[in-house]
Amino acid sequence: MQRVYLDHAATTPMVAEAISALVDQSAKLGNPSSLHTSGREVRKDVEEAREAIAKFAECAPSEIIFTGSGTEANNAAIKGLFWSARESNPKRKVIVTSPFEHHAVMDPIDWLAVHEGAEVVHVGVSSDGVVDLDDVKRIIEARADEIALISIMHSNNEIGTVQPISEIVQIASEKQIAVHSDAVQSFGKVEFSFKNLGLTAATLSAHKIGGPLGIGILILKRGLEITPVLHGGGQERDIRSGTLNAPAIVSFAAAVKKVHSEFLERNNRVRHLKESLKATLNEKVSDIRFNGRSENSLPGILNVTFPGAPGDALLLLLDAENISTSTGSACSAGVAQPSHVLLSLGLSERDAKSSLRFSLGHTSTDSDVAYLGSVIGKVVERARAAGLK
Ligand SMILES: Cc1ncc(COP(=O)(O)O)c(C=O)c1O
Repeated sequence: MQRVYLDHAATTPMVAEAISALVDQSAKLGNPSSLHTSGREVRKDVEEAREAIAKFAECAPSEIIFTGSGTEANNAAIKGLFWSARESNPKRKVIVTSPFEHHAVMDPIDWLAVHEGAEVVHVGVSSDGVVDLDDVKRIIEARADEIALISIMHSNNEIGTVQPISEIVQIASEKQIAVHSDAVQSFGKVEFSFKNLGLTAATLSAHKIGGPLGIGILILKRGLEITPVLHGGGQERDIRSGTLNAPAIVSFAAAVKKVHSEFLERNNRVRHLKESLKATLNEKVSDIRFNGRSENSLPGILNVTFPGAPGDALLLLLDAENISTSTGSACSAGVAQPSHVLLSLGLSERDAKSSLRFSLGHTSTDSDVAYLGSVIGKVVERARAAGLK
């Protein structure tokens, strides 16, 4: 039997257009930085891809810096903005962030705190997973001259809540503070416009929207120079050295065009399926709670607490039934850790460890939800019988 894949937030299947583009471009010879005809032909493909992606992300093509992943783009933005701010004013060492960022934001910030003297200030968040704007205002008023940057995600990868980025940028811009936002989960799923948000920097990743693995984008405001993490050939505005991965870039653009052409249809269908999944779970399992909020959220992410049932047991029992899901939390030395995202919303360790993320995407169907509905009752019963160790 086919697997039921409910882990699209981890990675989603490539769309056919992106696969063809990847294969076709891989057959073309030439380094896009070479001056000869072969190089220039590949350069043209890369620049057309850059323009196509810029159109959808609503930024200037020159604001796009291709990287090897979303993780790399986050590192480049956060470290680069921090180092540049500190260089222009040694007092600027504060990084304002949320407590529920992805590790690809949280860990570079923690690294800067340990190795570069950064001070991390977390904004408060509501129990349904949204940044508290009054707290952002309070922090900015109190520490404006010390803040190097603000980095707050556009939407959360575990609970799907979309954050008030435009409002945050508005507050920060009064004090000329740079704002970076990790939009990896938002791009292609909810409205995202770099220009309208007024951000300094944003992060995108191809494999969350049907493009290939290993290609990301740092969108960085025109004209801004930041200290690079990587040094080398000076490609991508001297901010990200390394030969451009032309096949992945062209394939990313193909995925973007596809998402763009069916944006509303695709996302409305996925949101509808999520509502149907929610209803199914409510019908089949007693005493469950949904984390996050449904309004202003990503179409495909549903995070559920099944009190008394260990999340890792649920994941493995569902896997044995051919269903892929995620606990969202890290596993450290073989011991399941509670999700820092759920803890930040005020869940107890026990409840955080009894939670599962279902994430739907462009290939999800009604029969996926129906199949999950046919097994979830017995799976939760078994997991609850095993209990939390
Ligand atoms: C919110 C968020 N940021 C960053 C990343 C990392 O992106 P990549 O897999 O391209 O490194 C992910 C992927 O899981 C994510 O969900």
